[in-house]
Amino acid sequence: MLIPLPRRPLLGAAIALRMWEEDDAEWYVRARDEVIFRWTKEPRDLTAAILREEIERYLIHPTYAGFAITDAPSGSLLGNIALVITEAEGCWAEVMYWLAAPARGRGAATEAVRTLARWAFETLPIERIELLTDTDNEASQRVAGRVGFVPRGKRGERLLFIMTRKPRSTNA
Ligand SMILES: CC(C)(COP(=O)(O)OP(=O)(O)OC[C@H]1O[C@@H](n2cnc3c(N)ncnc32)[C@H](O)[C@@H]1OP(=O)(O)O)[C@@H](O)C(=O)NCCC(=O)NCCS
Repeated sequence: MLIPLPRRPLLGAAIALRMWEEDDAEWYVRARDEVIFRWTKEPRDLTAAILREEIERYLIHPTYAGFAITDAPSGSLLGNIALVITEAEGCWAEVMYWLAAPARGRGAATEAVRTLARWAFETLPIERIELLTDTDNEASQRVAGRVGFVPRGKRGERLLFIMTRKPRSTNA
């Protein structure tokens, strides 16, 4: 399935999700701290030069939609969120995210996941979004719960949370 990337930012209450731009690469590389390396698969050896190439490529990548999480009033960068199509027929996707340290603790991730899920269910023929966290990653589990993801046990070593398509008025 081709993901039609939005032309305009996706607006949440206090955040907006926009396409990554090559000029964001330095910020992205520097924003990742030990907390992010602990809980995500972000490569430590990523450089701004590599990332600029990846940003160029992902804008035409059919199964991956990566967004910068920004503060809606100021436009400043807060973090990263991505939706990845995980199933051959394109009906399942996984959401992944992180916030730079100064952006944590004020609900930005909750709002970002909610906004991305709403856009995905409205725009794509997706039936199910999955969110996988480490068993010790309580902050991410709280985000999953606050957005309305339902716990579904474990997949491998990680906890699985899912959100399924609902009638449009009750989504996320
Ligand atoms: C996960 C993450 C995006 C959440 O950011 P956030 O929305 O700002 O989350 P908060 O800091 O507001 O925390 C969310 C909740 O978890 C709680 N929490 C935060 N850190 C915690 C910790 N170390 N242990 C237990 N609970 C924690 C908060 O009290 C809050 O609870 P509430 O729902 O009662 O308000 C952020 O912590 C992060 O970037 N972590 C590193 C990357 C990561 O883990 N990504 C997800 C991979 S699955």
